[in-house]
Amino acid sequence: MKHLLDTKDLSLEEAVSLLDTADSMAEVGTREVKKLPALRGRTVVNLFFEDSTRTRISFETAEKRLSADVINFAAKGSSVSKGESLKDTAQTLEAINADAIVIRHPASGAPERLATSGWITSPVINAGDGMHAHPTQALLDAMTLRQHRSRLTGEPTRGSTLEGMSVAIVGDVLHSRVARSNVWLLALLGARVVLVSPPTLLPVRIDDWPVEVCYDMDEALTRDLDAIMMLRIQRERMHASFFPSSEEYARLWGLTPERLTLLDARGAETAILHPGPMNRGLEISAAAADSPRSLVLDQVTNGVSVRMSVLYSLMTGPQDTTEHTAPLRTS
Ligand code: CP
Repeated sequence: MKHLLDTKDLSLEEAVSLLDTADSMAEVGTREVKKLPALRGRTVVNLFFEDSTRTRISFETAEKRLSADVINFAAKGSSVSKGESLKDTAQTLEAINADAIVIRHPASGAPERLATSGWITSPVINAGDGMHAHPTQALLDAMTLRQHRSRLTGEPTRGSTLEGMSVAIVGDVLHSRVARSNVWLLALLGARVVLVSPPTLLPVRIDDWPVEVCYDMDEALTRDLDAIMMLRIQRERMHASFFPSSEEYARLWGLTPERLTLLDARGAETAILHPGPMNRGLEISAAAADSPRSLVLDQVTNGVSVRMSVLYSLMTGPQDTTEHTAPLRTS
């Protein structure tokens, strides 16, 4: 694996290996000195052409925990605002000998263009491109789901898939790169995936997606679900009216306090996930977001471990992670 562009490109072995390495990296986050020397002397450029909080911060944290030199590039304030092309930006990075590029871009396919154009030679990691893919988000979601099952069964996460788990992905699937990357990764790992959405917020061609579809949120909640992944309503990508009003959307498709009470009454062990940022009161109520079922902050924590795993795996090759598990000497 040279680049990470989409979960669709991963084999089962690669996905489980990335998750196992992320588990090892999570242990580093519990140490007093949260650093490994693995990427000392290497330079990672974070190329963000689109806004981000979680992904940008967790990539930077991951890079610093691996001792890499970090360059943060935001399109705002750079020569991109003077009209510089992706090619010229990429070649500038090549000229400064960047060892890896993390890119978020509003255009679907921009990371692949960077990876396959020949403009640069270093690994490219997709941090979210248009409505297309967000592979590290899907990996951190899978890590969170493995932990959820492990907490319930007592079985170790290491080496495990998501075989036998059922996950509902709810809401604005049409505009969601998170949903797309999750569909492929969850199915690869053996989970059953149910898309729960109004017909207007589902892509037209999903015949070849490994999913079931349900158009009724209340009916979906009667199913035996291990997790509900709520999707953000992406108003910035909506150029038409996809539902009558926010109130109606929240009532029909939102994870309301009433639906949360229903889950509690059934005694279901269903976890609640959301990639963030959340529209509280729209797709998810504050009661659900802050409930004991919510794994939203676990997702953020796991984001650092998963991104360390991806950077480590792409930049150091197939080595034993134990080689770098000793903390850096501080003297
Ligand atoms: N989940 C996610 O990608 O969040 P950010 O847009 O804040 O990075």
